[in-house]
Amino acid sequence: MKKLIKNGTIVTASETFEADLLIEDGKIASIGANLSSSGAEMVDAKGRYVFPGGIDPHTHLEMPFGGTVSKDDFESGTIAAAYGGTTTVIDFCLTKKGEPMQSSINEWHAKSKDKAVIDYGFHLMIGEINDDVLAEIPKVIAEEGITSFKVFMAYKNVFQADDETLFRTLVTAKELGGLVMVHAENGDVIDYLTKQALKKGQTDPIYHALTRPPEVEGEATGRACQLTGLANSQLYVVHVSCENAVEKIAEARRKGFDVWGETCPQYLVLDQTALEKPNFEGAKYVWSPPLREKHHQDVLWNALKNGDLQTLGSDQCSFDFKGQKELGRGDFTKIPNGGPIIEDRVSILYSEGVEQGRISLNQFVDITSTRIAKLFGLYPQKGTIAIGADADLVIFDPTIERTISADSHHMAVDYNAFEGMKVKGEPVSVLSRGEFVIRDKQFVGSRGQGKYVKRAKYGQTLTSDANEAISK
Ligand code: URP
Ligand code: ZN
Ligand code: ZN
Ligand code: ZN
Repeated sequence: MKKLIKNGTIVTASETFEADLLIEDGKIASIGANLSSSGAEMVDAKGRYVFPGGIDPHTHLEMPFGGTVSKDDFESGTIAAAYGGTTTVIDFCLTKKGEPMQSSINEWHAKSKDKAVIDYGFHLMIGEINDDVLAEIPKVIAEEGITSFKVFMAYKNVFQADDETLFRTLVTAKELGGLVMVHAENGDVIDYLTKQALKKGQTDPIYHALTRPPEVEGEATGRACQLTGLANSQLYVVHVSCENAVEKIAEARRKGFDVWGETCPQYLVLDQTALEKPNFEGAKYVWSPPLREKHHQDVLWNALKNGDLQTLGSDQCSFDFKGQKELGRGDFTKIPNGGPIIEDRVSILYSEGVEQGRISLNQFVDITSTRIAKLFGLYPQKGTIAIGADADLVIFDPTIERTISADSHHMAVDYNAFEGMKVKGEPVSVLSRGEFVIRDKQFVGSRGQGKYVKRAKYGQTLTSDANEAISK
C-alpha cells in the first residue's frame, strides 16, 4: 500500500529539509512539499525527524563463543534493532579451518532466513588462506553478494589468523573488490599477558582489561594499516576503542591509505572502572577490545567529529549474566566477550552526540547509516533518502526522554550495559521497505519479513535492478 509521510523534517548525511515523502512498492517514489496521492495512507511526522534507517555493520547474532552461544538470535536481535531505529544489519559469518566456507554461509542462511524482521547481509571470516579458500572467494562475492571479509588478529588458538593470512586477504580483496575488516589486537601478546595474570591468581573481570592494554590494539591497528598500504588494498578496522588505534588510522589516512575505522557506543560512554563492579558484575562489561580509561572517550568523539573514525557499529554479541557471563567466575578468560547494544546504538549516538553538540545531525546520519551503506555496497539502495531508494525509514521524536533499562529493552538478555542511562530522542516508528516494523513504539512486523541482501563490490553502487534480482 502507498504511504505518504507528511510534515516531517528529512535528514540525510548532507541536508536537512521539511518535505513529504511518498512511498510506493517499498521504495521512495517522491519527495516534495505538499505532496498528495489518492489512496495513500497518511502518516503524520510533524515535529519529528525522518532519517534513513540505521545500518548496523557489526553484529554477532546466535554466534557460538567461548563454549556458549550469543543469546539474541536473528529474531530477537532484529526486533530489538528495529525498535532502536536500525533497518539493516550485517552479521559476521564465522568459518571453520579446513571446511568449505559455503557450508558456514549455508548455516548462517539457515539461522536467519525465517527469523529476521529487517534486511540483513553477511561478512565472512577468513581464518586461513589456501587454494580452496582462494577458489571460493570469487564465488562468495558473485553468488552470495558477500563483499567484506573479516580477519581476527586476536583470540589465539580460536579465531586468530597470522600475518600471511591477513596480507594475502588484503591482496585478494584488492583484486576482487572486497573490503577487509580486522579485529585489531595483538593476540600473541594478550595470550602471554593473560597466562602471566592467571599464574599470579589475577582472575577477576578487571584483568580482562589489564591484559589487553591500549598498546596491543595500537600495535595491531598500525600493523594492519601498514600491510594495507603495502598491498594497496582497503581496510576497515572494527570496534576501535582507544587513542592508540585512532592515531594509527589517522596516520594511515594522512598517507592516503584506504583505511576506515568504526567505534561502538560502549567505548564512547562507558569506561574501564565498570569491570571493577562488585559481585562479579564487572563481567557484564567484558568486551574485546576492553573498555578503556575515560580519557580515550574524548579522542573517539573527536575522531567521529573530524572524520578520523567514520562509523558506529554495535558489536552486538549478547550473553545473559546468569549462566553465561557467570561461566567466567574465578577465571576471567572464560567470560564470554560481548554485550547487548543493538537496540541503543542509534539513540546513544543521537543523545550523546547530537544533543550534546559533539557532532552535527547530518554527521549522525552519516555515521549510523550513509557511510556504512557506501562502504559495504548497499548505497544508494539503502543508507539515504532519495527517489528510488528502499523506504527504510525512521520517524524520530527528538523530544522524548527515556531511561535505558533491561526492564524495557527488547533484547533477550537479563541485563543492559547502559542500565540507568538517560537518553533524549527516540525512534517512534520504523519502516522496512515501506512496511511498518515499529509503529508508535509497538512492534507490528513479522518474523521472516527481513530479506537477505546481496551487496555490491567495494566502491561500487547497489542499483535498484540489481537489488530486485539479487534479494533472496
Ligand atoms: O567482545 C566482543 N567484541 N565480542 C564479540 C566478538 C568480537 O571480537 O567482535
Ligand atoms: Zn572483534
Ligand atoms: Zn591512559
Ligand atoms: Zn564483533
